[in-house]
Amino acid sequence: MANCVTLNQTSYHGAGAIQNIPAEVKAHGFQKAFVCSGPNILKHGVTAKVTDLLDEAGLAYEIFSDIKANPTIENVQNGVEAFKASGADYIIAIGGGSPMDTAKAIGIIVNNPEFADVRSLEGVAPTTKPSVPIIAVPTTAGTAAEVTINYVIKDDEKQRKFVCVDTKDIPIIAIVDPDMMSGMPYGLTAATGMDALTHAIEGYITKAAWEMTDMFHIKAIEIIARSLRAACENDPKAREDMALGQYIAGQGFSNVGLGIVHSMAHALGAVYDTPHGVANAILLPTVMAYNADATGTKYKDIAIAMGVEGVENMSQEEYRKAAVDAVAQLARDVKIPENLKEIAKEEDLDFLVDSAFNDACAPGNPKDASKEDIRALYLSLM
Ligand SMILES: NC(=O)c1ccc[n+]([C@@H]2O[C@H](COP(=O)([O-])OP(=O)(O)OC[C@H]3O[C@@H](n4cnc5c(N)ncnc54)[C@H](O)[C@@H]3O)[C@@H](O)[C@H]2O)c1
Ligand SMILES: [Fe+2]
Repeated sequence: MANCVTLNQTSYHGAGAIQNIPAEVKAHGFQKAFVCSGPNILKHGVTAKVTDLLDEAGLAYEIFSDIKANPTIENVQNGVEAFKASGADYIIAIGGGSPMDTAKAIGIIVNNPEFADVRSLEGVAPTTKPSVPIIAVPTTAGTAAEVTINYVIKDDEKQRKFVCVDTKDIPIIAIVDPDMMSGMPYGLTAATGMDALTHAIEGYITKAAWEMTDMFHIKAIEIIARSLRAACENDPKAREDMALGQYIAGQGFSNVGLGIVHSMAHALGAVYDTPHGVANAILLPTVMAYNADATGTKYKDIAIAMGVEGVENMSQEEYRKAAVDAVAQLARDVKIPENLKEIAKEEDLDFLVDSAFNDACAPGNPKDASKEDIRALYLSLM
């Protein structure tokens, strides 16, 4: 079977990248932007870094910020109505994964109104028309939602998050500017950075991985492993590296899938509103250890990319352990909690296991995890 790769039409990288937005808007002939951004970053002036440029260039826009972290069906439906009322002809998504995912769902539904219930978009939806054009500006590093063909929406009623996979939702332009991320506090930098590392590692060992995506993922692991600690301390070079590393991971995993770290994290996010990156970071070392015997020599590459020394002289058992230990050490160094004791409750376990087992990311896991396996993994951290 042939491999398929979907990427942005254009992407800009590096400090000052947002300066290119007005020229791109004009080159595409767009008339009015529907700016999707989260309420907190709107309040703290992060969104304004972009809207100030629109103002200076005399470009029209309207802001929509009714978007929760772990965005809901209701956020999307309100956004669709607001978009229709706005007279906008394109979207600028500014934020972490939550505003970018909301923007994708809005853009898809506006052009494919038969999916207005949102739930029917779960999995690979048979949409026929491309999303409203999206320019995506990430403010976390991160989900890489600016370059992925996925978005994740929360169903409050059913207490679950669902993943939608659709090549028609990919932003046409990604603006990956570390200056948009410089205001992230320590904990958010750590959590979103560990999400990016999880993408790179799950993408590297997922069933559909192949040479091109391996290239993206191993480079992403290397960049993230060497820069996340300093990025948490707001070092500008490390911020720049993290912006790139998380994007490169997105170029990979978006095209091949993830694994059960994400399945299990989605369940935690839906039930407890656990920040996505925190959930991934807690689960990642434990699930890596569980997956190890289905990964051939891949943990050797991961250990090297994580900066472990002497890997060449290690046995398979040793380098597998070294890879897992290096990931656990990084999570500890950036102050991620070590277990789920403060997060998950045993009475919810059946529900969590069911949700994770049925999650769209589960089939990509290198090992087919049974419900009993998933239960044991959760329990080992509770
Ligand atoms: N589409 C994809 O491929 C993909 C991949 C992974 C995760 N996700 C989804 O993305 C969501 C998580 O996104 P996220 O982790 O980027 O966080 P987020 O967008 O949920 O934002 C979390 C918090 O960080 C704040 N924030 C964002 N940028 C900031 C900045 N520069 N300075 C200060 N505060 C800032 C926000 O205001 C918010 O309170 C989850 O719903 C997850 O499931 C999507
Ligand atoms: Fe993620």
